[in-house]
Amino acid sequence: MKTYLFIRSILLFALCLTTAHCASSNGKQADEITANDQRIDSIISVMTMEEKVAMLCGNGLFTSPGIERLGIGEIHYTDGPFGIREELGKKSWGSIGLTTDSATFLPTGSALAACWNPELAFQYGVTIGAEARTRGKDILLGPAINITRTPLNGRTFEYMSEDPYLNSRLAVAYIKGVQSNGIASCVKHYAANNQETQRGQMDVLMDERTLQEIYLPAFKAAVTEGGAYAVMAAYNKFRGEYCAENDYLLNKILKQDWNFKGMVMSDWGGTHSTVRSALAGLDVEMGSEEFFTKGLLDSAKNGFVPESVINDKVKRILRVYFATRQKSTVPGQQVSTPAHMKTVYDIACQTVVLLKNSKNILPLRIQKVKTLAVIGDNAIQKHAAGGFGAGVKARYEITPLEGLKNRIGNSAKIEFAQGYKPKYSRGEGPGQIPDTKPDKALIAEAASLAKQADAVILFVGNNREVETEATDRPDLIMPFGQDELIRAVTAANPNTVIVVVAGAPVDLQTADSSASALLWSGFNGSEGGNALADVILGKVNPSGKLPFTIPVSLKDSPAHALDAFPGKGEENYTESILVGYRWFDTKNIQPRYCFGYGLSYTQFDFADVQTDKKTYTNQDMIKVSLQVKNKGKSDGHETVQLYVSDLGQGVNKAKQELKAFKKISVPAGKSTGVTLELAASDLSWYDEKQMKWVLSPGRYRLSVGSSSRDIKGSIEIDIE
Ligand code: BGC
Repeated sequence: MKTYLFIRSILLFALCLTTAHCASSNGKQADEITANDQRIDSIISVMTMEEKVAMLCGNGLFTSPGIERLGIGEIHYTDGPFGIREELGKKSWGSIGLTTDSATFLPTGSALAACWNPELAFQYGVTIGAEARTRGKDILLGPAINITRTPLNGRTFEYMSEDPYLNSRLAVAYIKGVQSNGIASCVKHYAANNQETQRGQMDVLMDERTLQEIYLPAFKAAVTEGGAYAVMAAYNKFRGEYCAENDYLLNKILKQDWNFKGMVMSDWGGTHSTVRSALAGLDVEMGSEEFFTKGLLDSAKNGFVPESVINDKVKRILRVYFATRQKSTVPGQQVSTPAHMKTVYDIACQTVVLLKNSKNILPLRIQKVKTLAVIGDNAIQKHAAGGFGAGVKARYEITPLEGLKNRIGNSAKIEFAQGYKPKYSRGEGPGQIPDTKPDKALIAEAASLAKQADAVILFVGNNREVETEATDRPDLIMPFGQDELIRAVTAANPNTVIVVVAGAPVDLQTADSSASALLWSGFNGSEGGNALADVILGKVNPSGKLPFTIPVSLKDSPAHALDAFPGKGEENYTESILVGYRWFDTKNIQPRYCFGYGLSYTQFDFADVQTDKKTYTNQDMIKVSLQVKNKGKSDGHETVQLYVSDLGQGVNKAKQELKAFKKISVPAGKSTGVTLELAASDLSWYDEKQMKWVLSPGRYRLSVGSSSRDIKGSIEIDIE
């Protein structure tokens, strides 16, 4: 009787958690997860070892078991990170063919990062969280925040940027948005999963400073500031041990140093051992049912894995379970609502980067155009799905050609030529190998259409077969002979705008030398085509900034310059902290387009750069203020970027590092005051000898600019 009453009270408590209203309060998320600890301890005290161990391994591809007797339901997981994945079989990767599982396709990670806008990243999270909730999920497998170490990484489009600070700000906002809707955000892939080549075996080696300064900060922020409820261990090894059985990464750094209270799951099929993984801090085996099943039960019963360790794992899972259920549920069916589509449109508008407009042919004056030639397969490609791994069955996806037709209507005649056809051959891995040969007939057809048109928009770049999980790209060159298409079309009609659609850097040599107008668009979500058309036609002033460096040649990129990619069995990050622009700036290498770069249809002046003080101590906040004037004729957004250089001689550092940024909107002809804040301690570096962050006293230069290389003003300060 006593047990019955006890269990009943637990059930009632669970129910009350399910319905309790909880206003979304971002700051408190880190505490929310431990709010039910006492109750959880009581639950654990009545569980058998069999019940406990059963919770530690997925019982399907995207579910893990609850405890029916105690009213704890199954946990439902979903990919992530740019929309809710369609429903697959319980134990098979095939679609189960539902007609009710379409969702909003949100711009992928690198596109979101090009917004440089944490508020939009928050809205992004709110949207995907609401859709996950509507679909009955508990855990969203996102955001994906690995650093863009090489432009060839097949997952660059899913990840955000080459800079740990930009990644941190966006990840924190995204996670808070997701979790405000009662969905746990599972940040992935922890850690140093920076390539797909041999990802399942590769042993990543780097010095401790590089780990702490480049590869960990976004994960740390995701956990300590974002309050992420879950973390996914990466496939690769780190310093000789798989990430899913890496005591240093999981127990020491994540759970001890960062005080992470949530659950750690393996990447799918990324568990390799039983006792070792259990003791190293892995809580749940996902994507396989091999190690945390009978073997773990036996090991626990025989004392190889102490019961306290098993209890801790169950506790972490139940924390996530209850923390997600105590938020107010999303009312009604919230998938691809007008509000969601408005959010993805707003994001898509801000992701588009204007790389070049030297003859001011953008925005396109459509009144002067009778015939518009739209050329290139990427004008009609959809990017919500494709390749290997997670995608979205998009409720709809507006292609660039559809967007242009929607916006231009009958004001001009739009003619289309494909220009190139994506063709592939089968490789050894799961990915396909894109053909490189130009299609002469399609090119001739495109050039002849271009010749007759008043203006041309040429869509080139990559697609989701070319950029994919599980395979890195072989080089930077745009496949399918697109460079030859570019040459032919621009020769036929100089009034050509090139739009590069890609989630990762590509070789822009031909595009850059052939056209006076160049736009970059990521895989831009359900409303991508409409947003792009609005940018091209001038309804939206472009404000995207590159989240990574576009090199002149692959050999200029650090990992490639040092022949430190892709490695064989071992991957030694010999470029250490000099990743992305840190390398290009320090080594004085001119990129084709630098990190943080992006033009607007208007121009901005920066003036009156000031700091609140001249000298600071470790405890201080540094305030940098300036005036930004929009001196053009159209309203626009500018992203003010603050880079810091250590002028002392003592420690090897990158020439400059991004430490703050703010995206602002400035009406035409007006000025706006901007204040950027950073903690003096943000100027610290990680000292391997002392194993701690150190703020070196001395002089520092704070530079504000509209990109990493367009510095508009700087000021020197001292740290005492
Ligand atoms: C990917 C993860 C993904 C998981 C489940 C893995 O192959 O690396 O990012 O969440 O599959 O689909």
